[in-house]
Order: sequence, then C-alpha cells, then structure tokens
Amino acid sequence: DVADIGVTGMAVMGSNLARNLARNGFKVAVHNRSVGKTEKVIADHGSDGEFYPSESMADFVASLQKPRVAIIMVKAGKPTDAVIDELASLMDEGDIIVDAGNALFTDTRRREAALREKGLHFVGSGVSGGEEGALNGPSIMPGGTKESYDRLGPMFEKISAHVDGEPCCTHVGADGAGHFVKMVHNGIEYADMQVISEAYDMMSKALGMSASQIGEVFAEWNKGDLESFLIEITAEVLAHTDADTGKPFVDVILDRAAQKGTGAWTVQTALDLGVPVTGIAEATFARSVSGSVPQREAGQAVLPAQAEAPEIADRAQFIDDLQKALYAAKLVSYSQGFDEIAKGAEEYGWDITLGDMARIWRGGCIIRARFLDRITEAYERTPDLALLLADEYFTTEITKCIPARRRVVAYAATAGYPVPVFASTLSYYDAVRAERLPAALVQAQRDYFGAHTYQRVDAEGTYHVEWSEDRRQTRQDSDQH
Ligand code: 6PG
Repeated sequence: DVADIGVTGMAVMGSNLARNLARNGFKVAVHNRSVGKTEKVIADHGSDGEFYPSESMADFVASLQKPRVAIIMVKAGKPTDAVIDELASLMDEGDIIVDAGNALFTDTRRREAALREKGLHFVGSGVSGGEEGALNGPSIMPGGTKESYDRLGPMFEKISAHVDGEPCCTHVGADGAGHFVKMVHNGIEYADMQVISEAYDMMSKALGMSASQIGEVFAEWNKGDLESFLIEITAEVLAHTDADTGKPFVDVILDRAAQKGTGAWTVQTALDLGVPVTGIAEATFARSVSGSVPQREAGQAVLPAQAEAPEIADRAQFIDDLQKALYAAKLVSYSQGFDEIAKGAEEYGWDITLGDMARIWRGGCIIRARFLDRITEAYERTPDLALLLADEYFTTEITKCIPARRRVVAYAATAGYPVPVFASTLSYYDAVRAERLPAALVQAQRDYFGAHTYQRVDAEGTYHVEWSEDRRQTRQDSDQH
C-alpha cells in the first residue's frame, strides 16, 4: 500500500496518464486485464518514474495508499461497469474510483449514486488532449464530491497542462458535472472543426486555392484572434503531402467524417434541456450528411445546383471575410455551448463556475485557444451573464464581423456551397437579437389545430380561439374572472 494513485487500463490513454503521473513524482500502481500490456508499459517506460505493476485487480487495489484513488481508463459502457464493480468489491469506505473516459454524464450520475450507497466516491472526469495531452498535460474536468477532489485534485492539477502558471484542472461540480462539461467541450470541438472546414471549402471552391495555399492562410490566421490548436493543426494537415501519390494529403482522404458519439450526446442533451446549440447540431449533422452515402449518390445524380459562383474580384477581401465569418461562427457556438452548461447546471443542481470552464480549456485540450481568456473575463465581469454574446467584449468583436459573415453566407448560398455552421450561427445571431419572431404564428397554428393556447402581447393570461365555432377568444387560465 505505497502507491499514491493507480491506473487500470493500459491502452494508450491509460498508460500515458500513468506515465504523466509518474513523471510528476507520484508512485503509480498500474494494471491491465491482460498482463502483457502492463509488462510492455513497464519495459518501455519504466524509467519515467516509480511504477507498481499488478497482475490481479486485488493486488492492484492492495498496492494503493488509503484513501485509495484508482483511475479507470477502459472503453465506455459495459467494460467500464465491469471494472467499476470489480474495483468496488475490493475497496473500502472513502476510497475513490475515477472514470477518466468519455462517459455519458447520465451513466456517471447513475454510477456515482450506486457507489455513494457503498460509501465510495465515484468521480467522472473529463480528460481532453488526446494521447499527447494525457502524457504531457491534458485539460482535466473532474466531477464528484468536494471531498474526493481534496484527495485527487492536487495530483490532477500537477499533471494537467498549465497556462500562465495556472493548472487546466478544477473541480467542476458534483456527480456527472465533469463528464457533462467534457461532453459540451466535445460538441464545441465538432463545431470548431466544421466551421474551419467550411472556410477551407470556400477557399478551395470559390477561390480555387490549393491545399497548401489554404494551409498558409490558416497559419497566418493562427497569429491573430483565431489562434488555437485546431487552426494550427489544420495548417499542418493542409501543408502535408501524401507519400504514395505526391498529392495534397487532404485530397486523397475519403470525404466521410466519422463520430464516436459525444457530439450527438451534446445535441441530444441540448434538445432535452431546450437549449439551442445550433452550431454544434449542424456540425454533428454535417458529419452524418457526409456519411450518408446512398443519399449523396442519389442527390449527386439528379439535383442541379441552379447556381453560379460570382467572380471574386478582391481575393484578399474574400479571405478576410472568411476569417471574420469563422470567428463570428465560433463566438456563437461557444456562446451556445456555455448556455448548455449553464442550463445543465441549473437542471442537475451543479455549482459550476462558467468562467473556470473556459480557464481550464485554455491549455491541454483540443479546443484550447487564446480567446478563451475573454470568456473567463466575461463571466468574471457578470457571473450571471444571460448571453455570452451580450458581454461588452463579445458584442464589440462580433459586431466587427457581421458584414463579412453576411457576405460569406450570401456568397455560399448564391454559389451553391454548403455552409451549415456559418449559416445556422448567423441565423441564430439574427434570431436572438430580433425584436419579434414568427413564433407568434406557430403559436396561432398550434392553437388552431390542437387548442394549445397562446398568450397575448397586450394582456396577462392564457387564451384560446374557438376556431371551429364562432372564433370567439376565451380565456383558459384559472384567474379568468
Ligand atoms: C479530446 C477529444 C477526444 C476524442 C473525441 C473524438 O478532448 O481529447 O475530444 O475525446 O478525440 O472523442 O471524437 P469523435 O471520434 O467523435 O470525433
């Protein structure tokens, strides 16, 4: 019982997390269902620090200092449940089980409740940054009890990425809060990736630029407001040449984007909560469209464009417009993502400090970016900010981008290029600032066919019109006297 912490599941993410802990001076117990993997990690990386390998789960648990902390890094779903059950049967009151995979937050809530009954702490923790991040400093989003964070927080903060000396890790909130926030992080990741791809597509199709030329534009953008990991790797990917054909690498990749489900979870959850995350939803659907092979084949065979791409006289101006459109779309999808976190916190009773979420995303994670500081500042200025876009900084920024983003969306529509995230985030912007929406007509229709009632602009109460009779308005609520 000497190890500070343990990791079970020695696939790449698990072993990298274990190595990161060991490199930071922690004594790390390691375990894997098949022993070979554990042996390989020790053989290849034993010199990283102090490891305590175990062949059985019982020995693994016995090698941990109390209160024990065991991190599970196995496949989401059934494998996770199996390992939790096994660990729980071997642990004592006060011990902590951490699920560091991408679990659905409702599963985490269920598991946390079950383990709490046994006196154990269950921590669902988001870990972002891929394999490289797990090894060198990820962004970590742990949920669970405050008590469990007192024990594991210092270790997680030490191994996380750091920005301006601050760790990219904080206690997010109770039970499933950490996995919820990681889920939304991934949804935002989908939106960022799609909107970057839309800008790429426009440069490719409207300006006829080559992949490497577009890569140079992204490299340039990475020096400004858009500076971020995803823009940086986009520039690198576009500069890359396929070794087999000598062609630009991106041009030899089949245009079907896969997904493992976290984007869809973000959208499903948002629908349940009634939060319009239109940018994330369109980004997720864009992957589905790309993978809808029979539909695309049918569409390609018969659907005409009926469009003509207007000549672009000022190419530099067009590229500048794209940069602004991208930034504006990004601001909207982050604003929507933070709305979802706020609504989730309200629904599930989590005490989430929104500004802290942006702070721990500044380093380590896939959406790390310079502008996240601005989000932290906005929530510091106004902790109960109703709309991120209405913060003075964001209003100023997005206002600068509006004419450009309208030109980009209009051009895409005229030329017949799909820009689902550019377009939907612009529509959201125009909806959220509109004084009056056509929702009034929807309410009238609902009242007509289903007596669903409506409210009036000029009086209190709930009303219904007797559409099939004399079209008399009646008041429906109880205080109608
Ligand atoms: C991260 C990533 C990570 C993973 C995504 C990929 O934060 O490190 O988000 O969790 O790369 O799950 O998701 P898709 O396979 O659905 O694109």
